[in-house]
Amino acid sequence: MNHPIRPLVSAVLILGVSAFTLAGAIADGGHYYPPVTDKTTAEECGSCHMAFPPSMLPAASWKKMMGELDRHFGDDASVDAATADLITRYLTSNAGDSSGLRFSGKLLRDIAPGAAPQRITELPRWKREHREISKAEWNDPKVKTKANCAACHDGAAQGYFDDD
Ligand code: HEC
Ligand code: HEC
Repeated sequence: MNHPIRPLVSAVLILGVSAFTLAGAIADGGHYYPPVTDKTTAEECGSCHMAFPPSMLPAASWKKMMGELDRHFGDDASVDAATADLITRYLTSNAGDSSGLRFSGKLLRDIAPGAAPQRITELPRWKREHREISKAEWNDPKVKTKANCAACHDGAAQGYFDDD
């Protein structure tokens, strides 16, 4: 009597396999970091700089950062408690070390377990990927700061950080 179940099982298997292949293809590139999709986070965290993809830092980093928004890299980026809660939940559940997100492996490699780095631009991997960029390029007036990803990565807002 298990005959009628068969087609369903096959459909699930096929779907499962194709989803895996897609994720694998993206992960192999190592340069896709899903952009922020939460509206509140995009607005609150995208007004002074681009809203950085949550998968670029571990959950511990976001938790620490959200706990000291009044002292945010020399700025006061504080929001009300309810908004902070919402953003913290969004960032931590989409962080680079939350399960199921394979994409972020590359940038998060070489981070000590339990560490809560606050800058993407100081991750060992980030530094290595950018080591060949000259002083003159960093000082280009259109770049201004290392955190200005979109100056060099045309696809940054869409989550693409390949060599372009
Ligand atoms: C009032 C302006 C402001 C707001 C709002 C703001 N930031 Fe920032 N953020 C800054 C400044 C200034 C820096 C330092 C930029 C630099 O070094 O060029 C920074 C840096 C960062 C960095 C490190 C960038 C690097 O060098 O790798 C992260 C991550 C970050 N912000 C996340 C957030 C998140 C998450 C939010 C929303 C909760 C947020 N920011 C909201 C001003 C702001
Ligand atoms: C001055 C220009 C510049 C800025 C600013 C910059 N990048 Fe890059 N980035 C590059 C270049 C060029 C490469 C390619 C390096 C190579 O292939 O050797 C690169 C490589 C990368 C890679 C690796 C891509 C891959 O194919 O594996 C990632 C991820 C990345 N950048 C993220 C960022 C993020 C995030 C920011 C902002 C916080 C940023 N970059 C800011 C120029 C820049």
